[in-house]
Amino acid sequence: MEEPEPADGVAEEEEEASPARLLEHRFQQGFLAGQRLLHFPWQDLEKILKASGNSSLLLTILQKTVLHPLCLKYPPSVKYRRCFLSELIKKHEATGAEPLDELYEALGHVLNTEENAHGYKNYLLPTGEAITLGESVAIISRGTTGLVTWDAGLYLAEWALENHAIFTNRSILELGSGMGLTGIAICKACQPRRYTFSDHHPCVLQQLSENIRLNGLSPEPEVGSFSLAKCETQKANLTGFQGPKVTVADLDWNLATKEELAGLQADVVIAADVVYDPELTLSLIKVLQKLPCCPNGQKAPEVYIAFTIRNPDTYCCFQTELNKVGIRWQAVPSPQKNVFPYDQQAKITLLRLLI
Ligand SMILES: C[S@@+](CC[C@H](N)C(=O)[O-])C[C@H]1O[C@@H](n2cnc3c(N)ncnc32)[C@H](O)[C@@H]1O
Repeated sequence: MEEPEPADGVAEEEEEASPARLLEHRFQQGFLAGQRLLHFPWQDLEKILKASGNSSLLLTILQKTVLHPLCLKYPPSVKYRRCFLSELIKKHEATGAEPLDELYEALGHVLNTEENAHGYKNYLLPTGEAITLGESVAIISRGTTGLVTWDAGLYLAEWALENHAIFTNRSILELGSGMGLTGIAICKACQPRRYTFSDHHPCVLQQLSENIRLNGLSPEPEVGSFSLAKCETQKANLTGFQGPKVTVADLDWNLATKEELAGLQADVVIAADVVYDPELTLSLIKVLQKLPCCPNGQKAPEVYIAFTIRNPDTYCCFQTELNKVGIRWQAVPSPQKNVFPYDQQAKITLLRLLI
């Protein structure tokens, strides 16, 4: 597939924007990334529509979302587009204005499209460039949580963009990559020397490889003993893009050996949203313990784990288990700038582990 096109001038618009421009941007960013509809600023939209008494803002939002070239090429699920348009129509009706043909035409088109269990999400980088991912519409499908992007993955990517020196010209190993958002963002914005995406679920590995290629990166066959997740080498179709060496490894935390992990020669190890279940926590700690303390006589890898604290007991359990095996940790300050749309009320933490 071709490289996704950059979204139009999003980054430049944000600086000196009026409330209406900011709202357009939030709708565009949220819609393209498939953000939950309840997190959209509907009340602000209604206020501006009522105050201005015209519908041009709605038409601009329509152009920047459902009719945006990225959405036409890589659309979110049919259900998502249908619900979004219905909500826009409701907000328009609430102003008592004449019906807008453009909104009904767009809805008619979506209603004539067959429903699917898959859709695309387009995440905008500060440069305006987009990361396009094929994802499942259900948060858990085929027995895994790995077929959608999670808030902690967006948070970790956001933090990496602000701390790119940690990644530049270094070898990165990501555990439990899921759909690949964090790693693709780091590969595009932080110039790592080498990036190893990994996961253990066959469907996740397959979709992850597709997503990596979709974004112009070419996974190469792995040299170590991890089995490669069936991703053939493919030339990047991006003109002039000199990316890192990228591989996708089938790396199960319960099965990985010290030798295999040492073979990856990671300078930095990262993971997002991998602390949500006590059993999983034990597997994660098992793999962390097998990371080389001094690969090639050099210093141990830097380890960063981001996770949403849904249940404080699970977080305590993670800390207790880290203590038991003598892994110390320190909290890392949050990113300053919000780049990706995710639930700002969610309690997300980033820990640096000292192995
Ligand atoms: C909640 S998802 C997070 C995905 C991604 N990091 C994100 O933030 O969007 C957890 C991921 O961990 C992976 N995972 C769970 N247990 C694993 C194990 N034992 N070995 C390797 N990966 C595992 C899952 O397949 C899934 O992709």
